[in-house]
Amino acid sequence: MSELSGKNILLGITGGIAAFKTPMLVRLLRDGGVNVQVVMTAAAHRFVTPTTLQAVSGRPVRDDLWDAAAEAAMGHIELARWADLVVIAPATAHCMATLAQGLADNLLATLCLATKAPILVVPAMNQAMWSSAATQRNVSKLIADGVSIVGPDEGDQACGDTGPGRMVEPPAIVDRIRQRLVAPVLAGVKPVLAGVKVLITAGPTVEAIDPVRFISNYSSGKQGYAIAQAAVNAGAEVTLVSGPTNLAPPSGVRMIAVQSAHDMFDAVHAEVADQNVVIGVAAVADYRPAEQAPQKLKKKSDKMNLLLDQNPDIIASVAALKNKPLVVGFAAETEQLIEHARAKRVRKGLDAIVVNDVSKQDIGFNSDYNSATLIWAQGELALPFQTKDELATSLIRHLADIFVSQLAITNPESATN
Ligand code: C5P
Repeated sequence: MSELSGKNILLGITGGIAAFKTPMLVRLLRDGGVNVQVVMTAAAHRFVTPTTLQAVSGRPVRDDLWDAAAEAAMGHIELARWADLVVIAPATAHCMATLAQGLADNLLATLCLATKAPILVVPAMNQAMWSSAATQRNVSKLIADGVSIVGPDEGDQACGDTGPGRMVEPPAIVDRIRQRLVAPVLAGVKPVLAGVKVLITAGPTVEAIDPVRFISNYSSGKQGYAIAQAAVNAGAEVTLVSGPTNLAPPSGVRMIAVQSAHDMFDAVHAEVADQNVVIGVAAVADYRPAEQAPQKLKKKSDKMNLLLDQNPDIIASVAALKNKPLVVGFAAETEQLIEHARAKRVRKGLDAIVVNDVSKQDIGFNSDYNSATLIWAQGELALPFQTKDELATSLIRHLADIFVSQLAITNPESATN
């Protein structure tokens, strides 16, 4: 953990039972050479003592905006500037509501408003409180404000319930801290995907009915091509498996042109063995004509039935491989975007999914603009309205950031230099 050595982390602790795990979190950070300043809310004192936290952090705990002596030593604005990262663990529903509203009625909330450092919020609460409309609204607001949400985990809860709401365990929190603090530095120093092999599917697929007719969709391929270019720019070795589009191949990619979903499936599986990352951006046709007529079909009667067979799910088949790469999918949704995408990620076995709202006129299919949310097992991140090129660059940076440890396994050089 030496890459975190010398970093300043402001650890906010709020009043949830999971606060009893925070001395362990502080200990892990201190072992890695991190300077930890603990800030507790009044309710946090009911679950863990400042004496314990002072002992493990080696610094007096801060808990009062009006503590004249503490303010004289390091005022709250100075403290907000001191932090390289703010972590709130556990974050209660009340704390998240406070942050989402931008209130400053205690020291921790004030520091969050005053700091320019990134903020990681690690929620912990009863599963019904987590799922409530108000909390989910606050989560969305915080994500839109650029706050990273870590977890929560699912499982047995102190209150006897089972479900999402458990605080992510301290070692996993430290992993996320490392990703948040170290990966952006790597991004600035050298290409974050140097030496990483990335395969991207893009464009529509075309499913032939007969020699002159087909079933397809309006996918332009723009987002997939932009991601391929962004991955090349980040130093990756990129293979682009694309259905028919009107776009020029991005510079520096190895291009494999395909027509149907079956062609795309075969091309992907011929390449996947030595890929580190597969990103499925293609709008693969879900169905194909059960039979492809060898000759042009003749007009016969008023109505005609076309029997369709389901196509294989390419990205899910990659995710199901024994030695699978990191797998990222896309989800074009028109309603309940986040819920549907979360379920799709789990159903398809994906490491991450990027969801966008295709019911909006100005984004998505055929547009040069897009907005999306990146969802992975431990968090969600809004990628606000921007050009598809900008979104692609930001997506690649965040994927490298979030999955830095997996990418480091395959690319030790770029992760440690
Ligand atoms: O199920 P849905 O089509 O919404 O899933 C979208 C994601 O799955 C995209 O990443 C898309 O590229 C991928 N997909 C696939 N093969 C299919 C259907 C979708 O790889 N047959």
